[in-house]
Amino acid sequence: MDFDVSSDWHVAAPYDFLRRLRREQPVFHSAHLGAYVLTRHADVRAAYGDPVRFSSRGSLAISPSLTAATREKLGEHGSFLSSFVANVDPPDHTRLRRSVSRAFTPRAVAALEHRFRALNEDLLDRIASRGEADFVRDIGHEPSVKLTARFIGVPEADEAHVQAHVKDWFQLFLSPQPPDRQLELAGSFLAYLDYVDRLVAARAREPRADFTSLMTGLIGRELSHREVVELISTILLGGNDTVPNQLGNSVLRLLREGVWPVPQDRLGRAVEECMRIDGASLGSFRYATTDVSLHGVTIPAGALVLLSADSAAHDEAVFAEPERFDLDRPNADAHMVFGYGIHFCVGAALGRLQLRTALEVLGRRLPGLRLVPGPISYRRSIVGRGLTELPVKW
Ligand code: HEM
Repeated sequence: MDFDVSSDWHVAAPYDFLRRLRREQPVFHSAHLGAYVLTRHADVRAAYGDPVRFSSRGSLAISPSLTAATREKLGEHGSFLSSFVANVDPPDHTRLRRSVSRAFTPRAVAALEHRFRALNEDLLDRIASRGEADFVRDIGHEPSVKLTARFIGVPEADEAHVQAHVKDWFQLFLSPQPPDRQLELAGSFLAYLDYVDRLVAARAREPRADFTSLMTGLIGRELSHREVVELISTILLGGNDTVPNQLGNSVLRLLREGVWPVPQDRLGRAVEECMRIDGASLGSFRYATTDVSLHGVTIPAGALVLLSADSAAHDEAVFAEPERFDLDRPNADAHMVFGYGIHFCVGAALGRLQLRTALEVLGRRLPGLRLVPGPISYRRSIVGRGLTELPVKW
C-alpha cells in the first residue's frame, strides 16, 4: 500500500494506514509521492527541529507532475516561489522571518479581532434568514479572505479576482492536474504574480497602513523587491485557504460530535482539538542534506522527505486514544499542524484567533446548525485537507 493523492482515502481517512506505518515502517519510502515519509511524532518533531539536515530550500517545489511545457511557461517561477520564507534556510530565512514577524506582533494580531468579528457578523446578517447553505462556499471562506485582503492592502474591488488566482495557484502546485489544465493554471499564476508586482510597486511609491507598505518600507535594507512580491503572494495563499479549510474541518467535526454551539469557555480547547484531529495541513516537505539513518533506513542525501504532521497528531505514543475527540485532552496543542521549529507558522496566532472568533459568532448566530446527511468529499491535495462542500441547515 502507498499514499495515493488521487484517491479519496488519502485525505479523508488515512489513519489506519498511518498507524501501520508508525508501527512497522516509521521511515517509509513512498513511490507515489517520490519521498520518504516520517510518521512518528518524535521523528517529525526532530526533523522540523533540524534545518541543517532537513533543508527547506526549494521544498515547496513539490510538483513532480508538471509537464515540460508547463515548466517552460513558468520559467524562473517554476519552483513555486524560490525566495519565499518557508522555502529558504538560514541565514536568508532568519532575515526574511525577522521582517515578516514585524507585522505579526501579538498587538497587531489582537487588533484584527474586531475587524474579523465584524466580517463574520456582516456575512451572517446577509444569509442567516436563508436557513441553509453550503458551509464551504457560502460561509467558511469569505471572512478570512476579506480579512487577509485588507491586511495585505488588496483593494476591495480586486478581491474576487485575486481569490480566483490563488485557487488556481494552489491547484497547479499542490494537486495533480492534466497537461492542458496545467498550462491554463500556469497562465493564471503568472498573471497573479504580475498583479502583486504592481501592488508592491504602487505601495513602494505611496505607502498606506497595510502589510504590503510595511514590507516595501524594508526594500533596500532588509528585503528585495522580489522577496516582497513572493511574500505577499504567498501570504494571500496562507490566509485565503488554510484558515477556511481548518474552519470547515472543525465545524464538521463539532457537529458530528454534537458539540454545538461550543460553550464560550471551551472555544480555545475546541480549536486545538479540532486542529489535532482534523488538521488542515498534512505536513511539510524537506530535502535531506546528508545521508540520514533512522530506524534502520538510510535516507540518502538529496532525497525529498515528508514530515507527516497529520500522522504525528494521531500518534498514540503522545495522544491517548488519538482517534477519540476529547475537549479535555491536556496536550491537544502538542500537534504540529502549524509546523514546528524555525519555520513554525508565523500566522499561527492569527489563525487561532480567526478560528476561535468564527466558532463563537457562528455558535451564537446559528445555534441550530446541523449537517445535511450526504457523502463528504475532500479536495485532492498533497499537503492540505479541505472539504469540497459541506451542506448545512439551521
Ligand atoms: C489554520 C491555519 C494555518 C495552518 C494550518 C498553517 C500551517 C502552516 C505550516 C505547517 C507552516 C510550516 C511550513 C514549513 O515548516 O515548511 C506554516 C508556515 C507559514 N505560515 Fe501558516 N498556517 C495557517 C495560517 C496562516 C496564516 C493566517 C498566515 C498569514 C496570514 C500564515 C503564514 C505563514 C507563513 C508566512 C509561514 C512561513 C514561516 C516560515 O517559513 O518561517 N499561515 N504555516
